[in-house]
Amino acid sequence: MIRRIARIAVGAAVTGAAAVALWTGPAAAQDGGADAALVARGRYLAVAADCAACHTAPHGGKPFAGGYGIASPLGSIYSSNITPSKVAGIGNYSESQFAAAVRDGIRGDGAHLYPAMPYTSYARLTDADIHALYAYFTQAVRPVDTAPPATRLPFPFNIRASMMVWNALFLDGTRFTPDPARSAQVNRGAYLAIALGHCDTCHTPRNAMMAEIGGKQLGGATLGTWIAPNITPDPVSGIGDWSSDDLFRYLKTGDVPGKAQAAGPMAEAIEHSFQYLSDDDLRAIVAYVRQVPALRNAAETRPRDAYGAISNGEALQRGVAPASLSNGARIFTGDCAACHRPTGTGSQDGYYPQLFHNSATGAATPDNLVAAILQGVDRTVGGQHVFMPGFAHGSYVDELSDQDVADVGNYVLSQFGNQAVHITASDVATLRAGGPRPLLARVGGYIVPAIVALAVIILTVIIIMVRAGRRIRRPA
Ligand code: HEC
Ligand code: HEC
Ligand code: HEC
Repeated sequence: MIRRIARIAVGAAVTGAAAVALWTGPAAAQDGGADAALVARGRYLAVAADCAACHTAPHGGKPFAGGYGIASPLGSIYSSNITPSKVAGIGNYSESQFAAAVRDGIRGDGAHLYPAMPYTSYARLTDADIHALYAYFTQAVRPVDTAPPATRLPFPFNIRASMMVWNALFLDGTRFTPDPARSAQVNRGAYLAIALGHCDTCHTPRNAMMAEIGGKQLGGATLGTWIAPNITPDPVSGIGDWSSDDLFRYLKTGDVPGKAQAAGPMAEAIEHSFQYLSDDDLRAIVAYVRQVPALRNAAETRPRDAYGAISNGEALQRGVAPASLSNGARIFTGDCAACHRPTGTGSQDGYYPQLFHNSATGAATPDNLVAAILQGVDRTVGGQHVFMPGFAHGSYVDELSDQDVADVGNYVLSQFGNQAVHITASDVATLRAGGPRPLLARVGGYIVPAIVALAVIILTVIIIMVRAGRRIRRPA
């Protein structure tokens, strides 16, 4: 039952998503000197934690004014207005109330927040960082006096105190403490990666209770349509064959030629957050990622970015009557080859990537290849817009059916990628339906556990009632 609810929650969470632009035009700090430095630090942390993504309504909502509806099967959970408005926001919050909301999930009025607000990650934030965030939100964010829609979940989910059960299970309230056995750089990276909810949220698989599986850190996890791959240092299943510079470049730009490009939720994370991190912080994350325990999937024999080679398949087919080409080859020629070149080499300047030695075509699962064909790539980094159109319904380019996507995907795999992988039309249908839109993939990571926790509570209540019933029926 828990699994089923979780799946329903993922399905529901994917609908109605919309991209939220990161607001980058904060008001100036009111004081100069030390305060300005503190506020600047708070702003940096807010970007690193991507508070704006959830706390800004889609389609031009005012920055941090809340109202982003996170869909759940029980109704939407709306993010709060966290501008310093005294009537609609957190203008009356003391610093300790702010700290309690962000780290313990307890609102100013004492009510429990749903874990759609990722306080279980933020619980590790240091006092100094909470102080800086508080300074930023109270001094440099413009107050907005409109209240977001109220969250109204049906009974018993509207009893916020029920989140105490979830907290007892999953909230580890210990603040981040550096591990003396690790370097300062690795500790900094761990803090950024874990406390600010960065990498583990998506790349660590979850168990049936939707809690991250301890021994599988960064071992890869499905987010619906996209897969966040294994990024442990294993040279076959992970990214052990990447250099530190490769990983740094990927986090900064989303493109490492001959290895991987970032689309979907990863592109969002880079676009809204990682690209703005200092080089030192990115290097720290790299150092941290490179020392987690390596995890190997025994079925894999070669790194996913080491498959395929230049193909002349398409060139050979030129002059062949289109009717005699396979459906996949025909679609590749018409819809892909203009950018990725008939030989799969991509463009010389690298703007259009090569399709061989590409993690999307060499992976043991075709999910990210199918996802890229359906949703395309849309990433703006450092002012440069990287764009590939998606071929799903509603695209301005050719709309491809499930069978078409499977055919062109299989053509790409056979010409440039992992030939052991095969895509069926029903695989495509599943991925098409399960596809979280980028931001919600991330939000889903939080909302699903909340729903599961509530399901557990209901189960517990039912069990208690059944037991009580038995006791009553039992003859004296
Ligand atoms: C994944 C989405 C998400 C992210 C990221 C996020 N929040 Fe939230 N936050 C929420 C939601 C949803 C609520 C409302 C939850 C509820 O009503 O139970 C909330 C509530 C809050 C509240 C409670 C305010 C009130 O009075 O209701 C504060 C304070 C807050 N967030 C601050 C932050 C800060 C600061 C950050 C960045 C460090 C942040 N949030 C990042 C989703 C998010
Ligand atoms: C919102 C979810 C999300 C977050 C947060 C996230 N990732 Fe990813 N990551 C993904 C997805 C999805 C992909 C696959 C993207 C694609 O193939 O286009 C990916 C791909 C990658 C890859 C490329 C792997 C390959 O072989 O293609 C690396 C490296 C990576 N992520 C590192 C990180 C690190 C380090 C962090 C934390 C700083 C992080 N990611 C945070 C979702 C996420
Ligand atoms: C208009 C040009 C264009 C067309 C047409 C196009 N692509 Fe792309 N493709 C791109 C760009 C741009 C990227 C991303 C480059 C980057 O991230 O730096 C990309 C990325 C990819 C990736 C890597 C995605 C990832 O997440 O790792 C794959 C696989 C891919 N394309 C396959 C295809 C296939 C198959 C087709 C035809 C169905 C196709 N492309 C059509 C421009 C195009």
